[in-house]
Amino acid sequence: MANSTSANNGKRDKVVLAYSGGLDTSVDIHWLQENYNVDVVAISVDVGQPEADGKEIVERAYRNGAIRADFFDVRKEFVEEYVWPLVKANGMYQDIYPLSTAIARPLMAKTLVKIAHEEGAKYIAHGCTGKGNDQVRFDAGIKAQDPDLKILAPQREWVASRDEEIDYAEEHGIEIKAKKSSPFSRDENLWGASCECGALENAWDEPPAGVWAHTVDPEQAPNTPTYVEIGFEHGIPVCLDGKRMDGIELIEKLNKIAGDNGVGRIDHVEDRLVGIKSRETYECPAAVTIITAHKAIEAMTLQREVLDFKRGIEQKFTRMVYDGQWFGGLREPINAFIDATQKFVNGVVRVKLYKGSVTVVGRKSPTSLYDTGLATYSKDTEDTFDHHAAMGFIYVWGLPDQTAARAHKTDKQ
Ligand code: ARG
Repeated sequence: MANSTSANNGKRDKVVLAYSGGLDTSVDIHWLQENYNVDVVAISVDVGQPEADGKEIVERAYRNGAIRADFFDVRKEFVEEYVWPLVKANGMYQDIYPLSTAIARPLMAKTLVKIAHEEGAKYIAHGCTGKGNDQVRFDAGIKAQDPDLKILAPQREWVASRDEEIDYAEEHGIEIKAKKSSPFSRDENLWGASCECGALENAWDEPPAGVWAHTVDPEQAPNTPTYVEIGFEHGIPVCLDGKRMDGIELIEKLNKIAGDNGVGRIDHVEDRLVGIKSRETYECPAAVTIITAHKAIEAMTLQREVLDFKRGIEQKFTRMVYDGQWFGGLREPINAFIDATQKFVNGVVRVKLYKGSVTVVGRKSPTSLYDTGLATYSKDTEDTFDHHAAMGFIYVWGLPDQTAARAHKTDKQ
């Protein structure tokens, strides 16, 4: 395509495009050149999505007209800097969605801004539509890092149907990946997969089998349970069945083991930030299992006051991740609080995976607050609890209510 502008010292302005290699962003390369007269730098990241063939994606971006294309493996950073804080916060939006899509967006926004600075680009573009949360996460996340960058969102401006995009691609010789069109919109990474649109829009209908791509149907799952031991250090999972491994491997392994037992399927009508209720499904076997286990080890190692207070903070953090406020002023202080609570969250949790359910069946911890001597009702274990002290405690504990009952007797009023 001809360079035409003389602005920017005779060079065209640049746009850094969040490129997935799919139909939307392949078409976007050409659309951006045509409508904004810009050079396109196509950036993809590996956050553990299946079929992430970086070489192929980069080559296709070049063939479709990008002046630079890159594919970065950011999985380690994704797990350590984004997913683990979410685990420590037991992050489940509306108590059910482990935020798998949402948590990848800030890292993508960070990568895009970094490349925009490297390239001296004026624009960042993404393929989000005007109805979802992801546009908010990108736009707000990018602007919070550099307010001078301008955002372009072709799908928000153009609002073309899938067929119109295919026609546009044919008309302009754009190479799109030969992939049979999915009736659903999907987003996938290590922490989970999201699925929306198509048959899911009827909230009364059970999700058709084609929705599920990463988990075995619980009805078809093995008839005997699978037990897994998850070891935690300072709130982070570090071992599976006693074997130490890095975060990527641990999540991948657990996705497989729990997914094979039908664990992690979620069907939810969710409140989007843009005010729409939307029916979506998720498959997050590792996320659901890890958070269940993490809550169990917290229950054993944290004081009640900490657990109670943390619950409110967790919900705030979860909302911030969902609402695209990762780069806002509250995230770091909130993370500092949550990190401080995780100092003694160490130990091993044994979970039982069986036909779609994950159940905690055992836990042990070197920093446990569970004291058998205090807890026991057995005659065989030495009871260290002072039963007589209970009477004095209850007298004082119940005193305000006793006093009120005497003072406020109805016949006195
Ligand atoms: N509703 C989820 C969220 O906002 C998932 C969005 C998935 N995006 C997609 N293109 N399917 O985090």
